Amino acid sequence: MRDLFDDIDIDDIGHDVTLAPGAMLLGGFARSRESALITEVHAIAERAPFRHLITPGGHRMSVAMTNCGNVGWVSDHRGYRYDAIDPDSGRPWPTMPDVFVALARDASAKTGFMDFRPDACLINRYEPGAKLSLHQDKDELDLDAPIVSVSLGLPATFQFGGFKRSDRPERHRLRHGDVVVWGGPSRLAFHGVLPLADGEHPLLGRQRINLTFRKTR
Ligand code: SIN
Ligand code: FE2
Repeated sequence: MRDLFDDIDIDDIGHDVTLAPGAMLLGGFARSRESALITEVHAIAERAPFRHLITPGGHRMSVAMTNCGNVGWVSDHRGYRYDAIDPDSGRPWPTMPDVFVALARDASAKTGFMDFRPDACLINRYEPGAKLSLHQDKDELDLDAPIVSVSLGLPATFQFGGFKRSDRPERHRLRHGDVVVWGGPSRLAFHGVLPLADGEHPLLGRQRINLTFRKTR
């Protein structure tokens, strides 16, 4: 059994959990690709460094973000949007690596969403204390495509479920290598991440990295 407070490194590979119709947690699905994924994250962050975006309301996000792909998700005083240009560098975002594209396709196919072709990958970096409040991913034009979310590094508590912010979400522990896919009837489910507990991950140190794949148009 996966238990919220059980972080003993039991082997979760292949332990899949249905979170809701159209939503699955694929335990350890990305583990075998961990070193290629981490190498690519470092290469992307050299060209497009992690930064703390400002929300339209003027708050600095505790999660640091960067992107790869044709477009990247950005936020500033004007609002949220996808932009082909990194506003910090004035250049296009780094190309989405093949290992990212293949992982997103394989994980979504396993959940029943065939031929997912993401054009954006938001990369979130959580340091201890960083969190992401409940939200819906709804800045994408194509709501038929799922969201694919990959966890690397320190474990986190993911909140998922409900179509109103006031609906009480379920909590699921996300560990290194876990992949969550949500689409179809779950595409607009609210989700978020509770403040990250401190720890030391053997490959990533004191941080959690999340890759979120989207098809934006
Ligand atoms: C997100 O909703 O963009 C990120 C979710 C996560 O970090 O697991
Ligand atoms: Fe999200």
